[in-house]
Amino acid sequence: MAAIDTGIGARTDGAGADTNGHLIRVGPRAELHGVSVISGGRHGIAVFPSSVSEAVYAVDNRCPHMGFPLHKGSVADGILTCHWHHARFDLESGGTFDPWADDVQTYPTVIEDGIVYVDARPHGNRVAHAKARLWDGLEQDLNLVVVKNVLALLEDAVPPAEILAIGGHFGATYRRGGWAAGLTILTAMGNLLPKLEPEDQALALYHGLVNVAGDCAGQPPRFALDPLPTHDGRPALAADRLQRWFRRFIDVRDADGAERSLLTAAASGTPPSTLADILATAATDHFFLDGGHTLDFVNKASELLDMIGWQEATAILPSLVPGLAMARRSEELNSWRHPVDLVALLEPKFARLPELFAAAGSDPERHASGTLTATLLGDDPAAIVAALATALAEGALLSAVSRQVSYAAALRVARFHSSNEFSDWITVLHTFTNANAVHQLLRRSPSPELLRGVYHAAMRLYLDRFLNTPAARLPEERPGKLAALPTGADTLLVGLRELLDREQQIETAGLVVHRYLSLEHDPAPLIAELGHLLLREDAEFHSYQMLEAGAALHSELAPEDPVAAVRVLVAVARYLAAHAPTSRAMLQTAKTARRLRRGEDLATEPAEDAEAD
Ligand code: FES
Repeated sequence: MAAIDTGIGARTDGAGADTNGHLIRVGPRAELHGVSVISGGRHGIAVFPSSVSEAVYAVDNRCPHMGFPLHKGSVADGILTCHWHHARFDLESGGTFDPWADDVQTYPTVIEDGIVYVDARPHGNRVAHAKARLWDGLEQDLNLVVVKNVLALLEDAVPPAEILAIGGHFGATYRRGGWAAGLTILTAMGNLLPKLEPEDQALALYHGLVNVAGDCAGQPPRFALDPLPTHDGRPALAADRLQRWFRRFIDVRDADGAERSLLTAAASGTPPSTLADILATAATDHFFLDGGHTLDFVNKASELLDMIGWQEATAILPSLVPGLAMARRSEELNSWRHPVDLVALLEPKFARLPELFAAAGSDPERHASGTLTATLLGDDPAAIVAALATALAEGALLSAVSRQVSYAAALRVARFHSSNEFSDWITVLHTFTNANAVHQLLRRSPSPELLRGVYHAAMRLYLDRFLNTPAARLPEERPGKLAALPTGADTLLVGLRELLDREQQIETAGLVVHRYLSLEHDPAPLIAELGHLLLREDAEFHSYQMLEAGAALHSELAPEDPVAAVRVLVAVARYLAAHAPTSRAMLQTAKTARRLRRGEDLATEPAEDAEAD
């Protein structure tokens, strides 16, 4: 394109006041020599006449990077350069040469009878553009591009499931090692969305997507295999046969064989519960894989498919296979073999699982609480195994038993003493999230094989016992401290937010949450606030897991056992308080994106101090 001389110094003297339907009048072409700014679009439209032809170009007047007024930019040889960070745009198409800046929106122009008009209907499909740019942001690992396009999609009423699907496809494709923390965070945040304030819903998606991008950055992609071929007349392979193959291949760490078996099952219409069973069974054929993460990933992949649709199973589920095949098996760990050989303790008991599985649920009134919890938190692994068997044999619901293990693991967090090594927060967290995964998967696809996972989690709980020695006191064991706290719901929530502006407010955060719930304030605003407290931080992987699993367990326990439900959210608040504050760089980027969406000029308008963290 030939050079265009814009002439710096915009004309804003009423141009654009005259409109004709979608057309905004700019003025006579013969009188346009420099850039003009007209009202229209989201932030005003900058109109650039060519100095070498009759052409006129119109672009959004805010730089898509950080909002600098583009009418103050320069044009040379058809390239518009923003003067703040020097992003460059093809003036005609709006496409950027600097992917971190995003494309600028362009508008059609027409000249009729010598008069220039801008069509206020922008070029292109905004939703399609934002989806494509979100994908670009994931590819380039650009937080600002990700959050801007999440905001754009939500403003255009795109369902969050479509955004989750973009992140799911990207994460499942662009990491050879397969499913990892980012996709787990994305799914956890998807689960939490209904419990969050609207502004935090965008933040939640942004956090998940940024973590997916981070996992994939610099990684080789996965090249998917195909299902086994089908031939005319050959019946589909039975799911139980494919499951047998899958388990055998995972056992010998043959990822390719396992992937083809799984893909064949997924491509042949195997029901979701059976697909989850195939994966969960293989994930419990060995003991407590990869510190509990592997089974958690299986559960999270199932939950992601619940949100985006199981028709995506062939795209998403194979990403689990590398982790399943290569996972560290806890029977290989010294801690599981000495001084007590937990593997030798459990294996003979597993022969009884089909019988216990059949007996479970025959007496739903048989509550698996109280003494079972105390035994689970004790120091006798044989007693723990016996107590689980007794509860099942006496007819307790499977899900009641698995939930009780999950609750006991949450209590480990509620009673975690800050005199422990800081890194051990993660140890108790791993047990809790694994127990939660077993519980959720048992509700989805119960089987005697998956029941082994309850025992695995219970043994891990036993191994964590010294992290509660000494045990931190629960809030109800500190009545004097509780009584000194305010009573109003809003006051308590504001106090909680202020607490997490300071380091290591672990005990007080637990007290505030207990105070709030014991006064029977609505738990929903508290959970939303805990979500906000997480999402304003540059959180690490396990904090997302803690909140999501804790909120889910709280919801289940609250109707039946409100005391236990309170303790679960105390555990969540303690965990978040132990990991706050951070530098909050992600929140700063999100604030920038929000200001851009509002059309603010970030170059000259300072942020409002009132914008709360
Ligand atoms: S390059 Fe335009 S605002 Fe940064």
